[in-house]
Amino acid sequence: MAELMSGMKRTAYCTEFSAGDVGREVTVTGWADSWRNHGGLIFIDLRDRSGIMQVVFDLSSIGEEGFAKAEAIRTEYVIAVRGTVRMRDDDRINPRLKTGNIEILAEELRILSESENLPFGISEAASVNDATRLKYRYLELRTPRLQEILMLRSRICHTARNYMDENGFVEIETPFLCRSTPEGARDYLVPSRVHKGEFYALPQSPQLYKQILMISGMDKYYQIAKCFRDEDLRADRQPEFTQIDMEMSFVSDQEDVMGIAEGMMRRVFKETKGIELPEKIRRMTYKEAMERFGSDKPDTRFGLELVDVTDIVRGCGFQVFSGAVERGGSVRLINAKGFYKGGDQAILSRKDVDALLPFVKAYRAKGLAWIAVKEDGLQSPIIKFLGDEVTKKILDRAGAEPGDIIFFGADSDDIVFASLGALRLKLARIGKLIPENTYDFLWVTEFPMFHYDETEKRYVAEHHPFTMPMEEDIPLLDTDPSKVRSQAYDFVINGYEAGGGSVRIHSQQIQSKVFDLLGFSEEEQAAKFGFFVTALKYGTPPHGGLAFGLDRLVMLLAGTEDIKDVIAFPKVQNASDLMSESPSPVDVRQLKELALKVDISKA
Ligand code: AMO
Ligand code: AMP
Repeated sequence: MAELMSGMKRTAYCTEFSAGDVGREVTVTGWADSWRNHGGLIFIDLRDRSGIMQVVFDLSSIGEEGFAKAEAIRTEYVIAVRGTVRMRDDDRINPRLKTGNIEILAEELRILSESENLPFGISEAASVNDATRLKYRYLELRTPRLQEILMLRSRICHTARNYMDENGFVEIETPFLCRSTPEGARDYLVPSRVHKGEFYALPQSPQLYKQILMISGMDKYYQIAKCFRDEDLRADRQPEFTQIDMEMSFVSDQEDVMGIAEGMMRRVFKETKGIELPEKIRRMTYKEAMERFGSDKPDTRFGLELVDVTDIVRGCGFQVFSGAVERGGSVRLINAKGFYKGGDQAILSRKDVDALLPFVKAYRAKGLAWIAVKEDGLQSPIIKFLGDEVTKKILDRAGAEPGDIIFFGADSDDIVFASLGALRLKLARIGKLIPENTYDFLWVTEFPMFHYDETEKRYVAEHHPFTMPMEEDIPLLDTDPSKVRSQAYDFVINGYEAGGGSVRIHSQQIQSKVFDLLGFSEEEQAAKFGFFVTALKYGTPPHGGLAFGLDRLVMLLAGTEDIKDVIAFPKVQNASDLMSESPSPVDVRQLKELALKVDISKA
């Protein structure tokens, strides 16, 4: 029978007591993490979000009725205990607990709620499969690890809000029910009951609203904003996620926004983890990032950089290489230094090398040529085609020494960068080259404004269509759009894109030109972005902004690689919530109200 708490009031959280409280009468509440019955003595590890306190029930101090009640306590019962803090006997001291030298001798017990047998023990949650853990997410959320992460997340938000407030940013909410606009990921749609056959879209980000707030004269905006994108999930991607979103007016150049954003990161890392950011955050252009690391969000905590050998292999006898160059592509390599030493020191075996082929094929690479440098000579499927001279030049440029193995990518730049960039990360993991507990901060700048989408046969915006080109590249909009760089910048931490933003177009003429280049006809522009293009005509201050991915920041600060760990109620790979079992079918009546008919026969 559940008892009430009336007349009892919690004194403090379990771990807020110390030896200084000995002799004090206190009340604690929480969950029975574990229990042991030693005849006349019962020990309960009482757990709340702060940690554990040992409670002792002694027949002589709690009386027969109380003791009988204590005997009924099982794991995860919710209890309130009034008692006296005392030192533990020497043989019961637990140095691993913050409260390991004290305990509470119970004088009154209330069982506030019982618990049925659990599907898994709280302390075993980490080893339970995803499906079960997420179905009973509330149980998993009782684990100290997840509770600490959620509290860290709260502190990060709090710090960010304080910082924005101190810098004159105004917190403004923007709608969830929006107009569907093209570009970006797929929208989540919400049918309108009032306007039958019409739909709202959930925002992929508050981008247009925050720009319109600048046109409205709000000058500096921020919001911790929910965003929704119907895209495939990954370890660092959820269909609904949160941004720390900001926008500011009268920016003279991108430095204004980058300065504010950097300041926020300084504050967040310092206040939540005591980590100081370097005085000057490293800058790298997109071009350099791609050429050296094969990624626009490079993890620069380790080497394994890409080396371009296009010039060496041009016209060589190995058709795979020379052909790639002829087709306008490139040939690049990674020297996995010391990965192919013999015997115990080998990081990669011959078999491991073959196993890397399917890995790069997932990034559309057609093969993975390699040269291993052994004490007694070279081993490779390709040197017979390359010939001695070309091979020597390649080895020289790669700085190859015995024990090294060199991997090649030969294809269009896109494919070479994607496959070698991914291989670089994989090799670093295999070779344990990534230092733990270090943070590496980096701005990546000068992104291309557009990339050409082969399937859609048109340019698409690299960041989004509202990004301002770099001033000196504006003339290229008319001559060679593929060469236009934008005033966009990403904040990269340990190989994660933690945030990104840009200076925006505030001229209606440039905005129209960009829409033209993206293939939106005037009618489409009017239909899709009309309200925004119109707004630009009525006095728009120069402005720019950025959004940090809050979930990714929490991941980095909490040291987890699974975004599900940092979201209270996350979705799984197939975008469903296993706890509430959503999405779900709805009543025919609801569909009727919305004038919708579901036909999954063609799906
Ligand atoms: P962007 O699309 O780059 O920019 O998003 C900003 C940041 O949000 C995070 N992020 C995600 N996190 C988890 N799951 C996802 N599916 C996901 N998608 C993005 C990333 C990313 O850096 N409106 C612009 C910002 C601006 O220009 O001001 C925008 O949304 O950390
Ligand atoms: P092949 O002549 O196709 O058997 O390839 C010889 C070697 O080159 C094999 O080790 C392939 O994995 C490798 N290879 C083939 N195509 C590529 C490519 N586009 N980039 C890098 N290596 C390749």
